[in-house]
Amino acid sequence: MAVIKNVAIAGASGNIGPHVLKALLEANFNVTVLTRSQASKDYGAKVKVVEADFNSVNSLTAALENQDAVISTIGKSGSEKQRLLIDAAVTAGVYRFVPSEFGSCTTSPKVADLPFYSTLATVRNYLIEKAASSALTYSIVAPGCFMEYLLAFPAAIDFKNHSVAFIDGGNTRVSVTSLATFARAVAAVFDHSDETENRVVYVSEAILSQRQLLELARNVNPEIQWTIRDIKSADILKAGLDAIASGGDGLQAYGNILLATVFGEAYSSAYDTNDNSLLGVEVITEERLKALVADRLDQTVRPNTPN
Ligand SMILES: NC(=O)c1ccc[n+]([C@@H]2O[C@H](COP(=O)([O-])OP(=O)(O)OC[C@H]3O[C@@H](n4cnc5c(N)ncnc54)[C@H](OP(=O)(O)O)[C@@H]3O)[C@@H](O)[C@H]2O)c1
Repeated sequence: MAVIKNVAIAGASGNIGPHVLKALLEANFNVTVLTRSQASKDYGAKVKVVEADFNSVNSLTAALENQDAVISTIGKSGSEKQRLLIDAAVTAGVYRFVPSEFGSCTTSPKVADLPFYSTLATVRNYLIEKAASSALTYSIVAPGCFMEYLLAFPAAIDFKNHSVAFIDGGNTRVSVTSLATFARAVAAVFDHSDETENRVVYVSEAILSQRQLLELARNVNPEIQWTIRDIKSADILKAGLDAIASGGDGLQAYGNILLATVFGEAYSSAYDTNDNSLLGVEVITEERLKALVADRLDQTVRPNTPN
């Protein structure tokens, strides 16, 4: 088995990267942060920080010297740049590359031509092509929707205003994983390099639908009156595509595309078959789910509260 010890992370200063960085350190990898600029960032004494020019393969190749693996948590605006990072990984003799995807239905052929997803597909296909002709290997990590994002995204269920718009009936089942669990699973991918080589690795801490989320909320507080309506994923998708066609680049555009594809009944993203046991991921308990929902509702749920 190829042993991975030295791991470089690109995008560690973003929203998702810090969770992965923490988990890699906790799993005792030698971690190097690859960044465009280290100004005003403190990653701690255990981390080596290397500034690189993400427009230069030479710069990135030098930065990846002696690295066994690269994980990219680069955000949407730099997604295309990952192709240069992949080229650099090949030249530097890196063994494993994990691209920045981390989504629900990102690998579904049904979304491959949609904005946002098409960039992910381009990078993924490039990586697969490079892996076929070099010593580089890859893992695509699919954690579903991040729990923290799902619970904070009012378009999925609005806990603050007690309203929900069911998309295609609200029964679409979606895999969901918390950021900490996802990050530990990434570290476990590197510890199980053979079993996770050249494939999609599925992580699923829970499978939830909008209706199940509402049920959990009603369970936490039966007194709350909810405003419920129905919408179609096709209409949300069209709104997103129209917004992009008129030059939109924000939540209205990409948020709608994500919403339609994550909760639309046509796009399956429930990982009933997954890599949880390989990666040491445990399914979240009903009790914990209720506590998380209660937190969003600003209610108090004590563990073991009978209902
Ligand atoms: N499944 C979900 O629910 C979910 C939710 C959110 C995000 N995600 C996914 O998680 C990944 C990371 O998202 P994020 O929100 O953490 O991203 P982010 O905060 O927007 O960006 C992360 C980092 O990427 C680097 N970066 C940005 N633009 C770059 C460029 N042009 N060239 C090179 N590097 C650049 C920056 O690091 P430096 O400044 O240090 O170079 C930045 O801090 C994405 O693939 C996203 O789709 C999934």
